[in-house]
Amino acid sequence: MGEKPTYYITTPIYYVNAEPHLGHAYTTVVADCMRRYHVLRGEDTFFLTGTDEHGDKIVKAAKEAGLSSPKEYADRISEKFRSILPLLGCEPDRFIRTTDPDHVRTVQHVLKLVYDAGDIEFKEYEGLYCFGCERFYMERELVDGNCPDHHTPPVRLKEKNYFFKMSRYQEWLIDHIKQHPEFITPERYRNEVLSFLKEPLDDLCISRPKERLTWGIELPFDTGFVTYVWFDALINYLTGLGYPDSPNFKRYWPSAHHIIAKDILKPHAIYWPTMLKAMGVEPYKGLHVHGYWKMRETKMSKSLGNVVSPGVLVDVFGQDPVRYCMLREMAFGLDASFSPDAFFTRINADLANDLGNLVSRVLQMVNKYLDGLVPERHDPTGPEGELKHAILNSVEKWDSHMAAFEPHRAYQALWEVLNLANKVIVKREPWALQKDPQKRPILESVLYTLLETLRISAILVYPAMPTTASRLLEALGLDVQGELSLESARQFGRLVPGTKTSKVAALFPRLDRTKVEKALAASSSGEKGVKKEDGKKDAPKKKGETGVPGLISIEDFQKVELRVAEIVRVEDIPKADKLYKLTILAPEERTIVAGVKGEFSKEDLQGKKVIIVANLRPVKLRGVKSHGMMLVAKGEKGLRLLTVEGDIEPGAKVS
Ligand code: MSP
Repeated sequence: MGEKPTYYITTPIYYVNAEPHLGHAYTTVVADCMRRYHVLRGEDTFFLTGTDEHGDKIVKAAKEAGLSSPKEYADRISEKFRSILPLLGCEPDRFIRTTDPDHVRTVQHVLKLVYDAGDIEFKEYEGLYCFGCERFYMERELVDGNCPDHHTPPVRLKEKNYFFKMSRYQEWLIDHIKQHPEFITPERYRNEVLSFLKEPLDDLCISRPKERLTWGIELPFDTGFVTYVWFDALINYLTGLGYPDSPNFKRYWPSAHHIIAKDILKPHAIYWPTMLKAMGVEPYKGLHVHGYWKMRETKMSKSLGNVVSPGVLVDVFGQDPVRYCMLREMAFGLDASFSPDAFFTRINADLANDLGNLVSRVLQMVNKYLDGLVPERHDPTGPEGELKHAILNSVEKWDSHMAAFEPHRAYQALWEVLNLANKVIVKREPWALQKDPQKRPILESVLYTLLETLRISAILVYPAMPTTASRLLEALGLDVQGELSLESARQFGRLVPGTKTSKVAALFPRLDRTKVEKALAASSSGEKGVKKEDGKKDAPKKKGETGVPGLISIEDFQKVELRVAEIVRVEDIPKADKLYKLTILAPEERTIVAGVKGEFSKEDLQGKKVIIVANLRPVKLRGVKSHGMMLVAKGEKGLRLLTVEGDIEPGAKVS
């Protein structure tokens, strides 16, 4: 028997200048899910995650937190990243830190190798330096000639530094990407990289003089310098496997896959393969790039203070449901907006209803009509014959979507079959069949097919919801470890007649909206809260705050005063091609400015009764003071007015 194929999967190593949020949690959960998928394929897997701990940002964050050393600060935050792993059900083989001694050794080894090969050059660099940020800026990054953060002009500085001659490998990289379509996925990111590579590459500055930065790994060929950011960070993917000598490196590196978000595409798609080439190490197999989790249209990030903590989500929704929602709510590759409401709805619909109900109905029927024993095998026909066909079909679909890094599609395909299974129960009415001894074979065939559908579904569910998969397989009287393989998912009819099944307590209790809101409010006031800024907890919650951005309380909603308003006059505003000045009655006369000019003519608006927000603080737009805001609905075909049917006086309250 040949050796098992291998699979090596990594997440980025996360900066320790911020605490973990949903964005980090997502990448880690996708990696864990992919690793479990490859376990199902019978592969020998290695999963690496960890923290990136050197550089200016950490020194700064440590100072701000009043700590004496960056290491002390890094220890603290790194531990937070480590501690969300069990919370999320993620089981990496190693949690790497760039301050680990073996990493320091590996980076120095690589630096020496590349230096000796003549790919590192010492040269003078002249650029615009901001002392506040401790970094150089490109001309085009400045705002009116100033640093975008400090609003002060940068200083022209000449400095000698070490540069990696990345440009030497540009042509090779272009060729490699062209010849390996699976090297960067989804395709849009591959195209983005190829188009970036049309311009000549600059060499990459890889050092900082110690006068400016000491918190880094010293260059082995010049003790006056430390290595800077990417040369240190990217090499973690090799350290994690014990490069260069460990058997793990030889074993797993040929099947290396990295998952990242699009923010760090360039270092991973350009710096990293060229660095590997310079070292004489073959490039990784695949780079898989996802989009951003956003909060109301902006990227979730600590600097914006709009993050949601994975701890809160797990507390409120539970571990497996949170994993499932993340995987299902974000189309891998595209941005997704986080909304607790979407998680809530998805859990009740997909998990409590579709899967949870199916499981409890089937097991209850087997218990009631067949004494809990797996019935004889029958070759299913009719609706259950279709179900057998559909579940076997969905194993193949699921497999190819997972292989293509599309977990959202994989689970969509499985859920179509779960819906079909629920329909088969309604059509076949086992409760009626069991009354007629003549129909016993049909009853057995229906229930056997349903049990097999549950068994196969449990296997496919495993990468997303490992605990649920185990509970389900146990309830079916199976040995969990022995059953977890794609091969066994492909074999219909494995359940042995006479096996004792057991009922399970509800797999996913239905969520109650008020209870969820209460729990969100309670958990976010504690340690695991929604963070405004690094290290600082939320201010004590006022009555009615729900704690998770996106969910508002009834008290919040009641602050908004909505009224019916009659539009009595519509006028243009000079030099504003999108705005109208509206004179309205609500019931008093007032002026509001509405940005709807491209969408509605004056006649469309004149005389209409619309809905306005009446208690907005006035703002001046193009010199006209606006005392409120008109509501419109925004659909794919454009804007539509919100009007009121029937006879109603202007100023009537909307509630
Ligand atoms: N330390 C570097 C990576 C070095 S890897 C050799 C770094 N760290 S980071 O803490 O900023 O993490 C960035 C990664 O965190 C993203 O690539 C992504 O995996 C995850 N995310 C952080 N914010 C995110 C969102 N708002 N949405 C989705 N993922 C996000 O960059």
